[in-house]
Amino acid sequence: MKTTKELFDNNRHWAKRMTQINRRFFKDLAGQQTPKYLWIGCADSRVPANEIVGLLPGEIFVHRNVANLVIHTDINCLSVLQYAVEILEVEHVIVCGHYGCGGIEAAVEDQRHGLIDNWLRHVRDVYQRHHHQLKRAKDKPSLLRRLCEFNVKEQVVNVANTTTVQDAWRRGQSVCLHGWVYDIHDGLLKDLKVSINKDNRPANPYKALEMTVTRAQGLAFKGKKQRQVSRRPQAPAAKRSVDG
Ligand code: CO
Repeated sequence: MKTTKELFDNNRHWAKRMTQINRRFFKDLAGQQTPKYLWIGCADSRVPANEIVGLLPGEIFVHRNVANLVIHTDINCLSVLQYAVEILEVEHVIVCGHYGCGGIEAAVEDQRHGLIDNWLRHVRDVYQRHHHQLKRAKDKPSLLRRLCEFNVKEQVVNVANTTTVQDAWRRGQSVCLHGWVYDIHDGLLKDLKVSINKDNRPANPYKALEMTVTRAQGLAFKGKKQRQVSRRPQAPAAKRSVDG
């Protein structure tokens, strides 16, 4: 393990390297930040947002917490989102989970971990909501991978349902939401294809979850047509979305 002195040495080398590449790098950066992306990811040290998407400081605004959750009462995350959308005017909000997430794994274990269990309860809720699909997983690793994906999709919906994003879309501001998963085993990102923007968002924000789960079932969201299908009395949409 490196000592903290080594970190300061590294820092000086890094700052020198950056100014060698671009003499005005820090001068320009200190003046303003104009990131186009907000990244909401896991706190896991193996998933450094800037690096895995090849962006420099100043190019991506980042919020991280255990298991990349967007909770409606988390003032920390909501404040980051508001600042990013309303002041920085980011064009994309990316919720990025990762396979091999300790938070996801801990959430399905039948043992206590202390305080963090209250936070991970949100993942457990996702697990229970999609239990019918998840129980079909062939083994525990694939169950955890699927849960990781469901969790990201639900967090995208949570972002969509925030007052910040709803207001932005109402103003006509272009903010596109995305759900991705990073694989720590090969360093590659996977797009879960649940992107939502002001043009394809459901009129009723609470329809968003239905849309996302429907996609998870392998059916394409087709706006009006899909909504008509989901109204069929023999296949209640609300029940489908709850059962996953
Ligand atoms: Co994690």
